[in-house]
Order: sequence, then C-alpha cells, then structure tokens
Amino acid sequence: MIHTTQIPSQHWPKKFDQFRDLIYIPLDLPEPPKVDIDLFTDWAFTKAPKLVGNINHPETGQKIMHFEERGMKGWGFYPWIQVSAFHHGYSNSWISEFDKIFPDVVEYIHLFPYNILSGVTILLQKSNVTAPLHTDADDWLGMRFYLHNEVKEDALYFCPRKTNENNRIATYIVESENVYPQEWEKYLDLDKKIYSSHPCQRHAWALTSTRAAHGIEAFEYDRCARVTFLVHSHRPSVNHNAWNPDKLYDLLTRSLDKYSDYAIWWESPK
Ligand SMILES: [Fe+2]
Repeated sequence: MIHTTQIPSQHWPKKFDQFRDLIYIPLDLPEPPKVDIDLFTDWAFTKAPKLVGNINHPETGQKIMHFEERGMKGWGFYPWIQVSAFHHGYSNSWISEFDKIFPDVVEYIHLFPYNILSGVTILLQKSNVTAPLHTDADDWLGMRFYLHNEVKEDALYFCPRKTNENNRIATYIVESENVYPQEWEKYLDLDKKIYSSHPCQRHAWALTSTRAAHGIEAFEYDRCARVTFLVHSHRPSVNHNAWNPDKLYDLLTRSLDKYSDYAIWWESPK
C-alpha cells in the first residue's frame, strides 16, 4: 500500500488567513539587479557547488540525487542545473564568494521578508526539458526572483488542489527504499492548468506550496535563458524568528494592490 506523504504547514498569525488561498503573485519589489551573465554562469558552472547529481554536499557529505536516481524513471531528465549561493549548513554562509562577486544581488535578497536566511538556491532550467508537477520545499509561500530571463512565453503553470488544507503534498511518496511519484489525481484538479503571467521579464514573485502543485513547460533557449533564485528561510517550527511577519504582511498587501490582475487564487470547486 502506498501512503501519502503530507508535510504539515507552519502556523501563521490569523491576519495571514486572507492570503492563504493565494497561488501566485508577482511581488512589489524592485527589478532584480543586472549582472554580467557570463560572469554569473562562470560562477555557477565552475565555482558553485551543484546540489543535484552525483555530487556530495561539500561540508555535510549528504548525497543529493536527481529524479532518475530516486527511481522516478518516467520523469525523464532532471530539468534544472541546481546550485547553491547560500546555505545555513556552511560555516561561511555565502558560498564560493557569491557575496563578494555579486554584492548587489545579496543586497536585493535582503529585501525579502526574512530575519534569517536558511538558503539561496539557484535553478538554471535546461532547454527543451519539462519540469513535471511538483511542490517546492516551502511550508507555505515560496519567494523567488528571476535574475535573468529571456523566456517570453508563460511556462509556469499551476494545478489547484481539490481541498484547501494547510499542508503540503510532497512530490514523492517514499516507502522504505522505494520512491514513487505522487498520485496527483487524488489531490489536484488536473483538468485545470492555470498559467502564470509576468509584469516584466525579470521580477520577484511568490507561489504557494499548499493550494496547488506546479510545473514548467519546456522552452527552447540557451541553457541560461532563465535563472531563478529561490530564497528560503527556516520554518517557524525550527526558528520562529526567522520570518519577519510585519514585512511579509506589508509586502503581500502592496503586491496584491499593485498586481491584482496577475494574482492567481485558489477557488472552491463548484
Ligand atoms: Fe518548483
């Protein structure tokens, strides 16, 4: 029997209830700083530690595998090259001198509503590879920005959840040594595929990890056509001071005022 893996959501003050059904919203933050993309890709491919593949975490020794290695045979290639700029497990939290090479980006990251960062992960989506339905490892809202983005089409889509529970459906079902793809048809309305659109090419945005799962259509560009930053903080259960609730509340309120036309909301099935 295959059990469902459900990850409990973090608890938030009541005033955040109004945002609980939010699936996607561009954030009212400035445009990310422009960087020399050749300098960035040189850093990403030659200096930064890769988080996915047959590569051990340089300090923890943890092996982080990709889809195929986890038994996700039907999923094809892992769609991203995934590197890390910051991880709380490192003794010097900014990795491979990211803060010295890209100080403007570090300054930008500090605009996000966190008191404490736990990680900054960077995804370089491979050309012509689909990212299948999944949830990200955020308890509720995940904060993202495109540092670089040449992709014109709306590639990121959401399939809403059938119910509005405040937990995250995990991407994998893990049973002892075996890993299975999630049985999404049990939890999602797969007939609904809602595409996100963007106010500009390079911007910050947030997505749910509870009210929907998401995927990304393949696009055919150079390997660095889109560079997505994932900015993470600790779960409140790990450190309840990690988020700045006032800053988050203010940011979400401003963002919904400014980008209401782009907002995607979860709606109760009729
Ligand atoms: Fe994702």
